[in-house]
Amino acid sequence: MSKQVGVAFIGAGDISYLHGMAIKNITSARFCGIWNITQELANEKHALFGGKIYPSAEALCEDPDVNVVYILTSLEAHHQYATMALEAGKHVFVEKPVGSTVDEIESLRETAIRSGKLCVPGHNYIYDDSIIRARDIIERGDIGDIVSIYIMYNIQHPEDVAARCEGVIRQILTHHSYILIYLGGQPKELSAMKSVIHYEELTKEDLAMCNIKMDNDSIAHFCASFAADDQAGDPWTMMVKVIGTHGATRYSYRDWVDNRKAQVHSQTYLAYPYSIEQIDRYFIERCVLKNEPALSTLDDAITAQKMIEAMEASIEEGKITAIR
Ligand SMILES: NC(=O)c1ccc[n+]([C@@H]2O[C@H](COP(=O)([O-])OP(=O)(O)OC[C@H]3O[C@@H](n4cnc5c(N)ncnc54)[C@H](O)[C@@H]3O)[C@@H](O)[C@H]2O)c1
Repeated sequence: MSKQVGVAFIGAGDISYLHGMAIKNITSARFCGIWNITQELANEKHALFGGKIYPSAEALCEDPDVNVVYILTSLEAHHQYATMALEAGKHVFVEKPVGSTVDEIESLRETAIRSGKLCVPGHNYIYDDSIIRARDIIERGDIGDIVSIYIMYNIQHPEDVAARCEGVIRQILTHHSYILIYLGGQPKELSAMKSVIHYEELTKEDLAMCNIKMDNDSIAHFCASFAADDQAGDPWTMMVKVIGTHGATRYSYRDWVDNRKAQVHSQTYLAYPYSIEQIDRYFIERCVLKNEPALSTLDDAITAQKMIEAMEASIEEGKITAIR
């Protein structure tokens, strides 16, 4: 591989903007180009980031200048394009949720092993220095045994933006699930509820909560809402809190705020674009160039997906569900 890692994107929607900005800041990466199923978005991102506009996903995967392919499409297309890129001999970064089902993620894991290439989930939150520090503190035993973990997300999303996403269970609680696995270990059972509060047309949930019992008997609580912002004192815009027998730690979007509106958010929560840059930097500089393991793997993505499917089953059946 030449000194700079050649990076290309499949998918030119909202998240490709943040990855494009991040790649610009990583000197060991070079943006080769983009393909999108519709031309307009490909043109828009090409104007911002340069590189080629590929005529097809196949042409992008066959380009010898490309070492790494980012899969940034909507969820339903992740498996198809991640498989295509791995089989073409490229390292792959897949946005979350990695797949629509556990089977899809297991299939990607097999393809990655067979091709000898990396396939790393876009589990960006845990690449933030504060979350890494929280895990160090937990692992050293500084806060004792974990008692409870709270992961809260309250950011109102306009209905037209939400229409392009999954409901908050898959869209947001996937983040909560891999964060919980990173900080708290393995989950064993959960119970969940969901509602539609703010959407007028959409029928998918804009509010969901979940309680999870962990292997060590600690309990976690998740909240994800696209229904309302929390602007009250000490807001739970996006916050992680871990309480242990001897101490506690927390992470909050509100620790780093630029007052200007972001793509969707009422303010720019700087921790969010920062976490995208951090994961891209880690992936390129440490995983691709130094062959170091990612902080969160396809095994973790499989456990996160099992949690999502257990939440859906718990809601459907109205009972506590084992995570298998
Ligand atoms: N890590 C994060 O914090 C974060 C934040 C937002 C979105 N995401 C994830 O990124 C992915 C994309 O989200 P987004 O917000 O950019 O969505 P978006 O709707 O803005 O973009 C989706 C893109 O996928 C393309 N697409 C849709 N269906 C396709 C298909 N069948 N085949 C090929 N391309 C198709 C669209 O043309 C569009 O360019 C999703 O998996 C989402 O969960 C992650």
